Amino acid sequence: MNPVIETLINHRSDRSYLDKAIPDAVLDNIILSAYRAPTSVHSQQVSVIVTRDKATKAKIAELAGGQPWIAQAPVFITFVLDMHKTREAMTLIDQQQIAHESIESIVSGSTDVGIALASAMAAAHAQGLGVVPIGGMKRSGSVYRAV
Ligand SMILES: Cc1cc2nc3c(=O)[nH]c(=O)nc-3n(C[C@H](O)[C@H](O)[C@H](O)COP(=O)(O)O)c2cc1C
Repeated sequence: MNPVIETLINHRSDRSYLDKAIPDAVLDNIILSAYRAPTSVHSQQVSVIVTRDKATKAKIAELAGGQPWIAQAPVFITFVLDMHKTREAMTLIDQQQIAHESIESIVSGSTDVGIALASAMAAAHAQGLGVVPIGGMKRSGSVYRAV
């Protein structure tokens, strides 16, 4: 079977991880796969935040409603609909961002985040890693202020 199809068909979520560091090159492939995913009107509003720090992961695990596999995973990647960076880009060309005021932009931007997440998961699986998406992360909006 085609290896890409095999990777996608064999998807499953993993919630138990080895205590082994993820090499930078492997992580870079995952992040690049996320960033190379298509975005609506090429808006490129997806950002990823890589967390390796144990204490920060433990805090996220707690704030996500008590999900210990977040703390156990060697890397936790947060996917953000990042309208801050697009606002900064618009400012650089003397324009004002209005996308953040539009439901349509929020929905299409959120869809872009999901597409990027899917690409990142496929890249992780293709490199022999286990992953689980964490929607509970939405509960932990204050984590990056808290630590
Ligand atoms: C948007 C989204 C949010 C999810 N949030 C969580 C979560 O917070 N914690 C968790 O353990 N699993 C989470 N999952 C994983 C689902 O529970 C899992 O995909 C589903 O049970 C099907 O299992 P499978 O991925 O092994 O096929 C999430 C999945 C998606 C797509």
